[in-house]
Amino acid sequence: MKLSLRGVDIYPGFLTIEAQEAMLADLRQVVRQAPFFQPVTRFGQPLSVRMTAAGKFGWISDRGGYRYADRHPQGQSWPAIPASVLTVWTELSGCQRAPECCLINLYRDAARMGLHQDKDEADVTCPVLSISLGDDAQFRVGNVEKGGKTESLWLRSGDVAVMGGAARLAYHGVDKIRPGSSSLLDGGGRINLTLRVVT
Ligand code: SIN
Ligand code: MN
Repeated sequence: MKLSLRGVDIYPGFLTIEAQEAMLADLRQVVRQAPFFQPVTRFGQPLSVRMTAAGKFGWISDRGGYRYADRHPQGQSWPAIPASVLTVWTELSGCQRAPECCLINLYRDAARMGLHQDKDEADVTCPVLSISLGDDAQFRVGNVEKGGKTESLWLRSGDVAVMGGAARLAYHGVDKIRPGSSSLLDGGGRINLTLRVVT
């Protein structure tokens, strides 16, 4: 099944529980090599999500601003994107290029993500593909321009969203998660993976 939220393709329940658990086991290996860190804005304000990444590039935000970076803040290269994650890209992205960044965001408690565009990538012919694991999240999509009408839906564990075509540069964000709605993650919360071609 496929739904559309203002041009964003949503595939509810794309990953079975078994596939979610296998992906999570792969992500634990990634996090062992590249631990979650607390990003801050250039003014030193902590973001409410914790982050890490896999692939050629990760995305970091610190006192120097936000940017793609080829190393974890601790200095090591990012681990490879797990095959279980790449498979989803192959199945749903419709893009010939491989993803260069798998950003891993951890939402706990009151974590959220304000409306923003993903626009730091050179080739926006490739979509942004996002995978939800763990607690439900209220995902909001607006327009390519700032302001105007927005609509939201609840993303659940195993759902995949693809922001491509006219929706590639749409404003989007996460209003809130529903803590305790899933028992997939140890310690609760939600992991969102976003896959992107960067260069
Ligand atoms: C993002 O836009 O970076 C995250 C979206 C999500 O968490 O679903
Ligand atoms: Mn985004």
